[in-house]
Amino acid sequence: EEQIAAIRALPKVELHLHLEGAAPPDFIRRLAREKSVRVDHIFRPDGSYDYGDFVHFLTVYEAATSVLKSPEDYARLTRAVLEESAASGVIYTESFLSPDFCGGGDLGAWREYLAAIREAADEAERDLGITMRGIVTCIRHFGPDRAKRAALCAAETAGDWLTGFGMAGDENRGHQKDFAWSFDMAREAELNLTTHAGEWRGAREVREAVRDLRVARIGHGVRAIEDPEVVDILVEKGIVLEVCPGSNVTLGVYPRIAAHPVDKLRRKGVKLTISTDDPPFFHTSMADEYEALAHAFGWTEEVFEDIAVTAAEAAFCDEATRAGIR
Ligand code: ADE
Ligand code: ZN
Repeated sequence: EEQIAAIRALPKVELHLHLEGAAPPDFIRRLAREKSVRVDHIFRPDGSYDYGDFVHFLTVYEAATSVLKSPEDYARLTRAVLEESAASGVIYTESFLSPDFCGGGDLGAWREYLAAIREAADEAERDLGITMRGIVTCIRHFGPDRAKRAALCAAETAGDWLTGFGMAGDENRGHQKDFAWSFDMAREAELNLTTHAGEWRGAREVREAVRDLRVARIGHGVRAIEDPEVVDILVEKGIVLEVCPGSNVTLGVYPRIAAHPVDKLRRKGVKLTISTDDPPFFHTSMADEYEALAHAFGWTEEVFEDIAVTAAEAAFCDEATRAGIR
């Protein structure tokens, strides 16, 4: 028990967090009331988000996001999310931001949303000691054309704060290579790359993400375990997985944490990090993830320290920032 308390209290580096997906339900309800938007249907009687399968989860996610209508709303969201993360021991977080939700893909609007988010993050860094960086993410089920607009927004605002480009959304739609134009544009703008793959589709999707988008990191990627050749590719190329065990169990990718391949992947030498994905949707936090992994696999403080080092090395930030979290 003492050991668990020490593990929960470790400083943590989180690389995979969707900003809207981290919105506390109370925050969304309050905003909906202020704006007279009806969102009762996305909540259970106990106040938590209500969804069934993954596609329904995405629908509820987008319904919750629909109450966020201005840069000021996103500034408030950023503050609320960073308070939760800091309370869980997170010292550095990379968050997925979406121009599709922040201004509908319009570059001028996106600049205003980004400025508001960044200002809130700077304030939280001063008050709470948590550092944030942003990764623009396109949404796979919105299609390649909207992804191009997201990539353009990312390229135009790339820098020491907006440091990456990625893709989330429904992995069962289309193919990684449909988005190669957007990832090429982001790479040319010197953005670091990550994409969701191997969460819903199998190892082949991970292979395609590496081959067709040339990403440095993969969101989830855990189903690489189904093909030893793909595991070898990840090890050889040093590609880092952003593993979100609680998300995978809650959404039904695996029936329980003990059945999750994260420990096997680690033993095979795959570089991996631990994140929450969308904490209130999955009733989790970074401290909860650490505790669940310690229980399921007997991971010690040393294992988590090793994972934090991997995360700091894989972070999409400049060296001065990296030095502060290592
Ligand atoms: N968007 C938010 N969470 C996601 C997930 N787990 N997979 C794909 N897209 C997402
Ligand atoms: Zn995700």
